[in-house]
Amino acid sequence: MSLTNSTLKSLPPLNKVIVIGSGGRENSLAWALRHSSSIKEIFVAPGNGGTQEHKGCESIQIAENDHEGLIKFCKSHLIDLVIIGPETPLAAGLSDKLRNAGIAVFGPNAAGAKLEASKAWAKELMVSAGIPTAEHWSVQTIEEANNVLKNQNKPLVVKADGLAAGKGVTVPETIEDCSKAINAALNGRFGAAGTQLVLEEKLNGPEVSVFALCDGERLLTLPPAQDHKRLEEGDQGPNTGGMGAYAPAPLLDKKGLESIEELILKPTLSALKAKGIDYKGVIYAGLILTKNGPKVIEFNCRFGDPECQTLMPLMGPELPQILQACALGRLDLAPKLTILKKCSVCVVAAAYGYPDAPRLNDTIDIQLETDQNLQIFHAGTRSGENGKLITSGGRVLSIVSQSKDFDQAFTRAYKGLNRIHFKGIHYRKDIGHQVRKSNNKQQ
Ligand code: AMP
Ligand code: GLY
Repeated sequence: MSLTNSTLKSLPPLNKVIVIGSGGRENSLAWALRHSSSIKEIFVAPGNGGTQEHKGCESIQIAENDHEGLIKFCKSHLIDLVIIGPETPLAAGLSDKLRNAGIAVFGPNAAGAKLEASKAWAKELMVSAGIPTAEHWSVQTIEEANNVLKNQNKPLVVKADGLAAGKGVTVPETIEDCSKAINAALNGRFGAAGTQLVLEEKLNGPEVSVFALCDGERLLTLPPAQDHKRLEEGDQGPNTGGMGAYAPAPLLDKKGLESIEELILKPTLSALKAKGIDYKGVIYAGLILTKNGPKVIEFNCRFGDPECQTLMPLMGPELPQILQACALGRLDLAPKLTILKKCSVCVVAAAYGYPDAPRLNDTIDIQLETDQNLQIFHAGTRSGENGKLITSGGRVLSIVSQSKDFDQAFTRAYKGLNRIHFKGIHYRKDIGHQVRKSNNKQQ
């Protein structure tokens, strides 16, 4: 492209897009790309057993850590836009390399991905920019940690500084458990990710996820979503990647969302810019709405999963161009995003043994037709011998459904789940209990 981004008068053609990643988030992103009339080819690398289920989407067997392979593919296939789903390739600098090769990327560079890849770094950024967050202490030794614990004399949340596949946070109930979590983390439980810890004041209140699509200068906020992190009903059991979600979460109305933009998202983007970071991608703010106002408990540098699966069906066909505009630093040139005025819900079906030791290779039987308001997004699935679909990961697939109210949407999603079978299937029957008026347990 001969034009520099600042001289662009309109967005360039968007014909070929590749999504990097293999989860439900990437499956739903690929599905959403199909709704743009301009896009001719959609690739997902490496994708999963559901990629090909979406007409026009093709799995490409290049691993997300094969940066050179991905650059080569993008160049030889004249890819117009790369969308990077997971945090690991972002933190490893895949965006930087693709941009250096002249390819448009939606996803921050490695410096920006530190928002998620180093909790201590993100906390410092929040403190310096005056962004409301839990009080914290960064520590590197057991002695330092014990001093903080002694002074505070209450259980603190223990967080490994680095990327720990969603397992790096412990929310202890007692000082003894807090001490145990600190010892385990500093003794190598999370490997290099846990050589530094962030100890944090424990906050109370409902959690909500807010996503801003950023072009380095400007941002566009999506409807808030609520995740369900625990494995079991009643928010019990171990933390997971997320067992289900719904959007828009009524916890934040229009005004509430605007205040999050002013108080948290815009100052974060400005603080990144002040550090010389041209942040083009998602800022995911994980919030707790405390009685003293919203506070950030985590930033991520990508879409949440399953929140992304829940949100994609609410997005208008302009979304791909908006992601392209972000990648080019020109959100001002993007069409206005239409957002369907519907309730969207997602219930995740997980494998037996998830999250500790998910069993793999169970045959999946799907007796369900998708329609305009019902989607099946695949995550841990692959195509086995004879083309049979089999489980290949912890979170296997999700049913996502939209309706005019949450009750109807959940009823359809749970009915749909009754038509999906694999040995050991586990899903929570109380997803969305916060917004469901009818009985909270669907069969
Ligand atoms: P994360 O792995 O960062 O998503 O954190 C996992 C979960 O830990 C969050 O979803 C919260 O439920 C909980 N959590 C994290 N930080 C805090 C905090 N400061 N106070 C209370 N709960 C927290
Ligand atoms: N659903 C939480 C996450 O993606 O981190």
